[in-house]
Amino acid sequence: MGHKILVGVAWPYVNGEKHIGQIAGAYLPPDIFARFQRMAGNDVLMVSGSDTHGTPIMLKADEEGLPYTEFIDKYHGLFVDGCLAMGLTFDLYTHTDTANHWNVTQQMFLRHWETGFVYKDVQRQWYDPVAKKFLADRYVEGECPYCGSADARGDQCDRCGRIYDALELKRPRSKISGTTALEIRETEHFFLDLAKMNGPLLEWIAQGKEHWRPNVLNFTRGQLELRELRGRAITRDLDWGIPIPVGEYPDKRIYVWYDAVIGYLSAAVEWAHLGDDPEAWRQWWDADVNPEARLYNFIGKDNIPFHTILWPGMLIGYNAGATHLNLPYDVPANEYLNLGGDKFSTSRGNVIGWNSVLAQFQPDAWRYVLTALAPETADVEFTWQEFQDRVNNELVANWGNLVNRMLGFAYKRFEGAVPFPGELTAGDQALLDELRAGFDSVGALYGTVKLKAALQEVRKLSQRVNQYLNENAPWKLISVDTARAATTVYVALQAIDWLKVLWAPILPHASEAVHTMLGYQRPLFGRQYTELVEDSRGRHRVLRYDHSPACGLWEPGWLPPGQRLAEPRALFVKLDDAAMAETLE
Ligand code: MF3
Ligand code: ZN
Repeated sequence: MGHKILVGVAWPYVNGEKHIGQIAGAYLPPDIFARFQRMAGNDVLMVSGSDTHGTPIMLKADEEGLPYTEFIDKYHGLFVDGCLAMGLTFDLYTHTDTANHWNVTQQMFLRHWETGFVYKDVQRQWYDPVAKKFLADRYVEGECPYCGSADARGDQCDRCGRIYDALELKRPRSKISGTTALEIRETEHFFLDLAKMNGPLLEWIAQGKEHWRPNVLNFTRGQLELRELRGRAITRDLDWGIPIPVGEYPDKRIYVWYDAVIGYLSAAVEWAHLGDDPEAWRQWWDADVNPEARLYNFIGKDNIPFHTILWPGMLIGYNAGATHLNLPYDVPANEYLNLGGDKFSTSRGNVIGWNSVLAQFQPDAWRYVLTALAPETADVEFTWQEFQDRVNNELVANWGNLVNRMLGFAYKRFEGAVPFPGELTAGDQALLDELRAGFDSVGALYGTVKLKAALQEVRKLSQRVNQYLNENAPWKLISVDTARAATTVYVALQAIDWLKVLWAPILPHASEAVHTMLGYQRPLFGRQYTELVEDSRGRHRVLRYDHSPACGLWEPGWLPPGQRLAEPRALFVKLDDAAMAETLE
């Protein structure tokens, strides 16, 4: 029986086209990890959805002059299209404007209210006398109280990643009216009592976190040790978002970050309701049912405090009640993939939109390069030159050519079938042993989210097969010793069959194609599809993944001699300078 693994993926604000920096940081890595874990026989539930609330959405919707619901549908749809094109296998990708998500969020709020982890208080806040509005979160900007960045937002500084109270901002200005003549006024709000969670969080972070990335652990420790946590407002003076389930507050809504992180739970509940067993989500979430489940949160580094402090803090508060939920097992946050020396930033227009470039280059070319460049421990620079070089000199030269020349040769010279091998030489055995061992070494890397290292390891193994072929040269052998040629071709095809599996989490489309060319009938992977779901809040399009047709397993199976091959075709497109120039115009 497999382990239950929840792959929680950061919920993207749907306020524009996402850029490849975000895909490299938060969206592609969890898919690679999930695909590997499913092949390894574990029960993966990969969930996320569009983050539809809060000022990031409201500001952009107003800019485009669209009602919030229309604005959300537009960019939610765009993200879903991107996931389909990139092959991101969400068991459920939904959004936060659903009756289910509202319900789960309000339930958690009520639990926090009952356990005393949420309290009511009066707060002083920036007020815009021109717009006659309290300025929640991104409606106010100013200088970061920590690093001095000039355009820090009310809830978080983009440059240093810290979160703070908006009143700490220096030289604040309103995003609504532009005025700098802001007043401080009092308003009533609900607060999460993070002060109470400081101790339990420190305890939690001190236990069994050796597998955490140092950047994540150090940032979190720093926040918990250096600065005592204080109560944090979890409601806002806004008219868009989830209503407060306590008292009568028609002009206030729940804070977007409070509801968004609950998405990891609510999406699992929604997924269970779409399937046969509405209680199935408990296998991953309910600590009284399965405390062994492992919950992963894949995010970019700006999201760290929300996932290692706010969300586990909320869970600790929840668990003070009668039922209990599992806390995150790992939070593999990535640093940034930068373009031209600067962070990709939608607001500064310094971006490469993923929907646009997915239409121009193969998804596996992106998956390869973004993994080779993965900013796992430090910021990394993206250049188009490197993209082209890595595709041509690594992906095409190493794996693509190996498949093309071997499958082409076998198809033409061995009557379209896997040849029957004779006795294997020591050299043949050595190659196969090395590749067989790859299932352990590469599997250990994928399984611990060292995806960049996994890629390098598979690349080495592919290279090893190329070297074997150069040494054995079956295309020469075939005219002198057909039997020996058949054996080497068999050995190479067997190696390719295994490499197909080792590459599959990173290059699923290419591996599926190799799998078909090798003559297998059942697909390696399952099937992505979209579905329309209706509830009292309306209709929404969700992305799903059906893995029942999949036959991909993380083990070195035997390639049956005599199996009919399918007609080979090139795996990857080589990127010539002319094609690149056209794209970059
Ligand atoms: N919407 C946030 C962002 O794009 C991420 C939310 S992650 C969640 O930065 F877990 F809170 F949903
Ligand atoms: Zn800062």
